[in-house]
Amino acid sequence: AIDPQFETNREKVGEENGVAVWGPVDPPEKHGIHGTHVAVDFDICLADGACLEDCPVDVFTWVDTPGHPESDIKAEPTHEDQCIDCMLCVDVCPVDAIDVDPG
Ligand code: SF4
Ligand code: F3S
Repeated sequence: AIDPQFETNREKVGEENGVAVWGPVDPPEKHGIHGTHVAVDFDICLADGACLEDCPVDVFTWVDTPGHPESDIKAEPTHEDQCIDCMLCVDVCPVDAIDVDPG
């Protein structure tokens, strides 16, 4: 599962698609955690898609991660600023790849 303490335990190494990326990043095998308020561990996500289907405000968009061992697309929390903290995505992800931190 995603580490809910990632902001303490990891370093922000950049941004992609407008969201923070928390390392380590070493593509194609490692993409780190993407997002902060809504965070997706790209190295755990296996492209189930439930988060995209269920999010009431369409926070997530697919991005390509060719060659990643779990899946070659991932759910990017592109519109994390629109999140209403309903926690649906956290509940439906089968591999607990998502952390939402109501602030
Ligand atoms: Fe969308 Fe709710 Fe998840 Fe926020 S907590 S990203 S609104 S499903
Ligand atoms: Fe990935 Fe979980 Fe969404 S596996 S696509 S973060 S439901």
